[in-house]
Amino acid sequence: MELFRLLVVVLLLTLFCATLQASEARIQAVLKEPLPVPPLINVLGQEIYDAAMATGRYSYAGNTKCRLCHREFFLGRKKDKHDFALEKVIEMGYGENPRCLTCHATGYGIEGGFTSMKETPRLANVQCEGCHGPGSVHVKRRDAGGFLSGTDRPERIKKMCQSCHTERWDRSFHPSDFEVVYKKYSNPTPK
Ligand code: HEC
Ligand code: HEC
Ligand code: HEC
Ligand code: HEC
Repeated sequence: MELFRLLVVVLLLTLFCATLQASEARIQAVLKEPLPVPPLINVLGQEIYDAAMATGRYSYAGNTKCRLCHREFFLGRKKDKHDFALEKVIEMGYGENPRCLTCHATGYGIEGGFTSMKETPRLANVQCEGCHGPGSVHVKRRDAGGFLSGTDRPERIKKMCQSCHTERWDRSFHPSDFEVVYKKYSNPTPK
C-alpha cells in the first residue's frame, strides 16, 4: 500500500515537471524565432493595413472607453484570461520582450498600440481592441460598425484569434473545438 502511494506521488511529480518543461519549451522556441507578425497585419495583409492606417483615423481607444457604452462586456471580460494576459508574462520577467508582447498586449507593433507598461499601461493585456482592432472610428460613430475586425466580418475576427492562437498556442481550444469556443465570445462573459 505504501509503495503504491509512493508510486502515485512519483508519477504525479513526473507529470507536473513534464508540463512545466513543455510550457518552458514553447517559450524557448519563441525566443529563437523571428519577431511574430502583429495579429492585425496578419489578418488584413500589409496592403489593406497600410491603406487603413494612411487615413490617420484608426487608433486604439483603450477598454475604459468601451466601458462607457458596453459596461456588461467590460465587466464580463474581467473574468476572462485575455484581461490578464500580460501579468503572467511580466511576473516571468518577459514584460519587455517584443516576442511576447505581440500576443500578450493590445496592438503591439501597430501604430498607436501598446509599447510598454511605462508609456501605454492603458493598453496592457489583450483588450477589446486586441480582437476587434483599433476602435477610434467606432467610438465616434456611436452605433455599430467602424472596426477593421468587427462582427460584420467574422472571418477577420477568426483569423485574429488564430494569429495569436497558433498551433503552438492553441491549448485554450481543448477539449472543445475552435468554433464552439469562438461563439462564446459574442457573450459578455465567454465562459
Ligand atoms: C458611444 C458609445 C459607444 C462606445 C464608446 C463604444 N461602442 Fe461599441 N457599439 C455601440 C453601439 C450603439 C453599438 C450597436 C449596438 C450594440 O451592439 O450594442 C455598438 C456595437 C459594437 C460592436 C458590434 C458591432 C460591430 O461593429 O462589430 C462591437 C464589437 C463593439 N461595439 C465594440 C466596442 C469596443 C471594442 C469599444 C471600445 C473601443 C466600443 N465598442 C465603444 C456604442 C459604443
Ligand atoms: C478574445 C477576443 C475578443 C475580445 C477580447 C473581445 N471581443 Fe467582442 N467579440 C468577439 C467575438 C468572437 C464576437 C462575436 C463575433 C461574431 O458574431 O461572429 C464578439 C462580439 C462582440 C459584440 C457584439 C455582440 C452581439 O450582440 O453580437 C460586442 C458589442 C463586443 N464584442 C464588444 C466587446 C467589448 C466591449 C470588448 C472588451 C470589453 C470585447 N468585445 C472584447 C471577440 C472578442
Ligand atoms: C492578441 C492575441 C490574442 C487574440 C487576438 C486572441 N487571443 Fe485568446 N488568448 C491569448 C492569450 C495570450 C491567452 C492566455 C492568457 C493567459 O493564460 O494568461 C488567451 C486565452 C484564451 C482563452 C482561455 C480563456 C480563459 O479564461 O481560460 C480562450 C478560450 C481564448 N483565448 C480564445 C480566443 C478566441 C476565441 C479568440 C478570437 C475571438 C482569441 N482568443 C483571440 C491571446 C489572444
Ligand atoms: C503567437 C502568439 C504568442 C506569442 C508570440 C507568445 N504567446 Fe504566450 N500564449 C499565447 C496564447 C494564445 C496563450 C494561451 C493558449 C495556450 O496556452 O496554448 C499563451 C499562454 C501563455 C502562458 C500561460 C500558459 C502557460 O504555458 O503557462 C504563458 C506563461 C505565456 N503564454 C508566456 C509567453 C512568453 C513568456 C512569451 C514570449 C517568450 C510568449 N508567451 C509568447 C500566445 C503567444
